[in-house]
Amino acid sequence: MSDKEMSLGNPARMFDFTGQIVVITGATGVLGGEIACALAGCGARMAILYRNVERGQALLQLMGNHAGHADLFSADVLKIESLREAAAAILARFGKVDCLINAAGGNKPQATTTPELKFFDLPADALRWVFDLNLLGTILPCQVFGKIMAESGHGVILNVSSMNSYRPLTRIPAYSAAKAGVSNFTQWLAVHMAQEYSPRIRVNAIAPGFFLTDQNRFLLQDRETHELTPRGKQILAHTPMGRFGAPEDLLGAVLWLLSPGSAFVTGTVVPIDGGFSAFSGV
Ligand SMILES: NC(=O)c1ccc[n+]([C@@H]2O[C@H](COP(=O)([O-])OP(=O)(O)OC[C@H]3O[C@@H](n4cnc5c(N)ncnc54)[C@H](OP(=O)(O)O)[C@@H]3O)[C@@H](O)[C@H]2O)c1
Repeated sequence: MSDKEMSLGNPARMFDFTGQIVVITGATGVLGGEIACALAGCGARMAILYRNVERGQALLQLMGNHAGHADLFSADVLKIESLREAAAAILARFGKVDCLINAAGGNKPQATTTPELKFFDLPADALRWVFDLNLLGTILPCQVFGKIMAESGHGVILNVSSMNSYRPLTRIPAYSAAKAGVSNFTQWLAVHMAQEYSPRIRVNAIAPGFFLTDQNRFLLQDRETHELTPRGKQILAHTPMGRFGAPEDLLGAVLWLLSPGSAFVTGTVVPIDGGFSAFSGV
């Protein structure tokens, strides 16, 4: 659908993604999986970049009736050749790429300070792992799929940043810095694509607040009792809406940023955080 058709017709049609080819990384994870299911439900053809075939198949199961809208392509976001091979296979099958969602990312305990593991002793390998996965793992797919968009003159890229890109959270220095990098890169690429290639290529990011998922459960919930940790309680106390996010809370913003409804929006990072970033704490 062109932007003009969208504005002339029924605005609700802007969330009809029929015919759109959407490439997504990290869809075997909690948040990416929710996004992939929702977009398939809106008619998009999902090109799912996966590493682990069992997890890819599990996602297709989760998609249920919409699994017919999804195809699996093997790729590691840190291996440019694997991304190029996936891109070639996607182009051979569909002939185009309309959207790229970079949802692969994460943190690890070894890059997180604790009373036992001081900042001074965080291993370089663990810090590098976090920087690479979040920042390089966003940049490399943008190089490969952004090039296809530059050649066709249209496309939308959606990165996944985080609340801690605005102000760092305690204990997770590498993850905070890497996500700040993702937000900064989102702005950079938005300008670069619009100026150098086409104003019809947009680049935005979402910044989810606190979602209780596998990557952060160890920080927010006691492993045995499942009681909230003091950090978990502190987060809720600083979230005016008084709850953690649920994966489906991301969907409205994602659909909007991928759709012609945001045709004049590029270079933004949209917080989805229950008001966390707006609250001074008093
Ligand atoms: N959960 C939160 O509260 C929260 C808050 C803010 C931002 N975020 C961000 O949201 C995004 C999704 O988070 P999530 O909670 O859904 O994470 P998750 O459940 O841990 O999923 C992470 C995803 O990244 C993929 N991945 C990891 N390394 C990869 C690599 N080298 N190549 C390709 N894929 C790779 C994983 O694939 P495999 O299945 O192969 O491991 C998985 O699909 C991340 O960027 C995260 O930082 C999360």
